[in-house]
Amino acid sequence: MTIRNMSSLLSMALRSSKFGSLGRPFTNAIRSRAFGTAAAAEEPIVPPVQANLTQLLIDGQFVDSASGKTFPTLDPRTGQVIAHVSEGDAEDINRAVAAARKAFDKGPWPKMTAYERSQVLYRFADLIEKHNDELAALETWDNGKPYEQASQIEVPMLVRLMRYYAGWADKIHGLTVPADGSYHVQTLHEPIGVAGQIIPWNFPLLMYAWKVGPALACGNSIVLKTAEQTPLSALYVSNLLLEAGLPPGVLNVISGFGPTAGAALASHMDVDKIAFTGSTTTGQIVLELAAKSNLKSVTLELGGKSPFIICEDADIDEAVELAHFALFFNQGQCCCAGSRTFVHERVYDEFVEKSKARAAKRVVGDPFKKGVEQGPQIDVEQFEKVLRYIKSGIEHGATLEVGGERIGDKGYYIQPTIFTNVEEDMPIVTDEIFGPVQTILKFKDLDEVIHRANRTPYGLAAGVFTKNLDTANTLMRALRAGSIWINCFDVFDAAIPFGGYKMSGLGREKGVYSLSNYLQVKAVVTPLKNPAWL
Ligand code: NAI
Ligand code: MG
Repeated sequence: MTIRNMSSLLSMALRSSKFGSLGRPFTNAIRSRAFGTAAAAEEPIVPPVQANLTQLLIDGQFVDSASGKTFPTLDPRTGQVIAHVSEGDAEDINRAVAAARKAFDKGPWPKMTAYERSQVLYRFADLIEKHNDELAALETWDNGKPYEQASQIEVPMLVRLMRYYAGWADKIHGLTVPADGSYHVQTLHEPIGVAGQIIPWNFPLLMYAWKVGPALACGNSIVLKTAEQTPLSALYVSNLLLEAGLPPGVLNVISGFGPTAGAALASHMDVDKIAFTGSTTTGQIVLELAAKSNLKSVTLELGGKSPFIICEDADIDEAVELAHFALFFNQGQCCCAGSRTFVHERVYDEFVEKSKARAAKRVVGDPFKKGVEQGPQIDVEQFEKVLRYIKSGIEHGATLEVGGERIGDKGYYIQPTIFTNVEEDMPIVTDEIFGPVQTILKFKDLDEVIHRANRTPYGLAAGVFTKNLDTANTLMRALRAGSIWINCFDVFDAAIPFGGYKMSGLGREKGVYSLSNYLQVKAVVTPLKNPAWL
């Protein structure tokens, strides 16, 4: 498959009546295996990679944590230990921040030209490309996502994002400002300094790219804390970044837990900026820690409960497939998952029947197996959380149309699940479930669906499926969300900004907008003495 990123994958999927490149590798497998017989009972496939890098990366060296402690990172297919990883805490954050501070204030990084910085990022992208399959295997092993998704979409997207930011590095410049009076006024766009970055486990490599890419392109140094569930791929890829010529201390990677290492980073007095992706609750803690320490600038990319609206004129087969993808992709573990599927009453019954059939055919199993669409949930906590929500849906009287159970007796596999007859105040409709649970709601007219779609504290994304341009124009303006996907979903090109309205976040990542997260604007004013033209 030549498709190398999710956006083109999806647009091709839409153009093809058979959902071509998205569906093709999966379609054959779907015919032969439905989720009820998934591979959970089979022996897990041995991953074609080793987890060799397990220490913290500080000042260009892989080192043990100050305490000497480690924690296990687990294989979600089995719950078994992949590797013991150094556990960073406040002392390690201090060491990493000191290294990043030195690299920013005195080290070679600020002395390099923007062009030289861009060359480091281009070389990094080349190295990732060379190690595509190994890196994808590590990501699948640690996270449980299908290997085909990791190797054909996510690692190629990481490459694309790094080349995108490499391209920006030598194109960042300020303005000349026409101020009143006789002054020459210019703005200098300068890096902020030491950026703290805290990332989640659902897309470890892409979250790495969204944060590390713009920070380095703008000339900052970094202390990155990975999610405790998925520490491995960031260590692997950061080693490639060193090989590409990144000076020591410019990027430091700390594995560890939130309330310890994460909180130490967010509250550190020598960190100039913090970028966070994760739950809204933890985002609020990070913002508070930043406010109470040194008022470091903050960007947050948080939770969601995104509506996906299917209008009466929609092609039902396409709508079913796209709504299925919008929710079930990545085991339903997407901040922007289209988790509230609103369907016009005229097409509702047909839509529900076809969605049930599609979910029942979803191929769940060992993510290393060819044709598998859905692997296990990330860990026991998330697995139990999703099952609790399914139970609550049943208890509140929603109709469980399909799924609802775990699969097998080892690992964290859950059946693709659909609820109908849901009320808007049920927890399955109000809360971010972060799992393979679709709720389908019926609507009558546009005003009503706009009101209901916006009735959430979140505002990350929304999907609209219609052939009517007027309807599309109305909805794209009325929906209060940072991304509106019309007749598509999850289109994530490097240049497209992403971020949330309301409690889904602060600021935008990706695209030109992401650069402002990592730049200070300095206004420089000098008087014009005897300007010739006055
Ligand atoms: P979380 O928001 O607690 O964790 C995300 C990151 O924040 C991890 O690196 C974690 O170590 C760190 N963290 C946790 N507590 C912290 C603290 N006090 N200070 C600084 N950093 C801290 O999310 P978690 O527990 O992994 O998942 C809970 C729920 O959050 C999920 O069920 C899902 O609903 C949502 N979530 C949303 C994500 C998104 O992409 N927006 C990604 C992951 C989870
Ligand atoms: Mg793991």
